[in-house]
Amino acid sequence: MEDGEKEEIRRRIDIVELISAYSPLKKTGGRYKGLCPFHQERTPSFTVDPVLGRWHCFGGCAEGGDIFKFLMKAEGLTFPEAVEKLAAKAGVALTRRGMDKETSARLSNEKDRLYSANALAAQFFRECLRRDSGPRTYCERRKLAYETLDAFQIGWAPDDWSQLANYLLRNGVRAEDAEKAGLIFPSRRGDGFTDKFRARLIFPILDAQERIVAFGGRLIESVEGAPKYLNSPETPVFSKSAVLYALNRARKAIQSDDKVLVVEGYMDAVACHQAGIENVVATLGTSLTERHVEVLRRYTKTVILCFDADAAGERAALRAADLFRAAGPEFTLKVLVLPPGDDPDSMLSRGDAPAFRRALDLALTVPEFQLQAMQPRFDLREESGRIEYLRAAIPILAQIPSSLERDRLIRKLAPNHPSYASGGSRAEESIREEIRRHQPFGPRDSDDFFEGNAPRRPYSPRTGGGGAAKEWGGQRGGWRNQPPPLPTPPPEAGKVKRSAVAQAEEVLLRALLSDEWSLFTAQRLGASSASQLLTDPRAVALLEALQPLLVGHVAPSQAVGQLRDESLIDFASTYLLGEFTDPLTGDGIEGCIERLVKDRLQKANRVLIEKPETLDNDALRRWSQSAKAIKQSDPEAA
Ligand code: UTP
Ligand code: MN
Repeated sequence: MEDGEKEEIRRRIDIVELISAYSPLKKTGGRYKGLCPFHQERTPSFTVDPVLGRWHCFGGCAEGGDIFKFLMKAEGLTFPEAVEKLAAKAGVALTRRGMDKETSARLSNEKDRLYSANALAAQFFRECLRRDSGPRTYCERRKLAYETLDAFQIGWAPDDWSQLANYLLRNGVRAEDAEKAGLIFPSRRGDGFTDKFRARLIFPILDAQERIVAFGGRLIESVEGAPKYLNSPETPVFSKSAVLYALNRARKAIQSDDKVLVVEGYMDAVACHQAGIENVVATLGTSLTERHVEVLRRYTKTVILCFDADAAGERAALRAADLFRAAGPEFTLKVLVLPPGDDPDSMLSRGDAPAFRRALDLALTVPEFQLQAMQPRFDLREESGRIEYLRAAIPILAQIPSSLERDRLIRKLAPNHPSYASGGSRAEESIREEIRRHQPFGPRDSDDFFEGNAPRRPYSPRTGGGGAAKEWGGQRGGWRNQPPPLPTPPPEAGKVKRSAVAQAEEVLLRALLSDEWSLFTAQRLGASSASQLLTDPRAVALLEALQPLLVGHVAPSQAVGQLRDESLIDFASTYLLGEFTDPLTGDGIEGCIERLVKDRLQKANRVLIEKPETLDNDALRRWSQSAKAIKQSDPEAA
């Protein structure tokens, strides 16, 4: 290649456009700025000067260069490879010196060969869809317009064994590369290759630079024992947990709307785009990962996820909230709730686009979603149910860092308050008072910095001492003259012979392994150093093994599934699978913890008198703190 050719390429390639495909750029003055694609950063220090045709990172990597250098770094290419690629893009013919086609093919990098194998396969699949009316009818039934099939390059993998393999090999793809791309595998009989995707509607998965990195394939009629969707395996160009389907088509809309909707299915993403909602991407059937968040960070800090309004949805939302909290305070997470049994595609394809858009506009904050998801557990027709609901809401409200958001939700909840009839503001003030009491140091307001509503701490019943529930309806604050609170149900009545302590332990284990109360219980037990309170050694071992998982919002059944010790799994299973008729309540659980604390203090007392030298000081301090907390929250106790 000659210098003149390189100059020509530089003239023809728009450096801003080239780099924008890797990292969005914003114009500031005569320059463009964005996040450096080569290192993790949160404030843009990557500058591009279109006149000079150069880029520079003023942050961590402190490097710069021209278009060639950029592509070398971004794609891991050698200089001649970068020149060749950009020449092709610019339509500049290179004079080659001493390099025949074969050598250059060998030299050009492996990833490029996989991309081109994928590109060729996509062409093949599309051609097959054009020829086959069966899958086309399926597409019609699912309301996929021709333009949509085209835009998403949707295709069809024929119901055959090796058509794609033959096609690829005939067109110069090396078997080794097609295999590495996950398109074919050596057939069992050892005489050739078998196609990975057969009899499936094919969704090519493109990255932000429009390269085909993988495929997803859907059966159009169910086949016994075969998964509905099949994805490409992990390859050098595809990592399932980092790739977002449809990002290539969504990135502009995500930036201009400054938010992204992340759905779970290919069809959901495609249906949204077809309906003109273009800021939508899909994970490939997994939940969102840290790596997805790092990809999204470049485009927006507002992420909307879809969850069902049930216990599993609540757990998933809390897990997502943790993920975003770890990703940084700049993120705002919202939750889109659809009618039970619906997904975006099902709503849009039956013409419910207005309802879907409305739901999208009404996307909830995480605490708001929690309040909604737990509402069915309470009977709001009864005053006692409304009070229980408010009680359960307090710890959630108390953890909202933004006072604006907190006030908004207090207003929303106020009608449940007994004194609402005599004035909404009185009800709100009273709820505020309960929140203050729940959190003695007050929630830290953070409206000074706009940071959306990503919470700093988990949205979950707060850890620590006796809790607010006991105070509700007490003699202080705005609850005077209100009907008395529901009585605390006795922990696990009915088993005559067992000691109160054993009964309390049993309730706690049940709660720990129940879908609804596991997180609450794990946190409360953690706050009272309770693994040392339990007497049954199996219970202690179980609690120690499960607590970190449960606090991390893992479902109890899944957490137990991760245990190694068979006998412990057995032990846990009795609680996990057992049928208990008496309901668990927050008060009941707290009552059990109190009982264990008191029992322990009594024992410590005895030891103090009889054998003071054996007492573990730390533990004593912790228990007496717990006891104090209980006493404070419940003046009548102890
Ligand atoms: P869904 O079954 O919800 O997908 O799985 P969908 O897109 O709504 O499918 P339709 O409407 O029945 O066509 C969500 C995602 O989970 C992954 C796929 O990525 C799918 O889009 N998945 C699902 C698999 O990988 N394998 C499966 O067997 C099923
Ligand atoms: Mn669906």
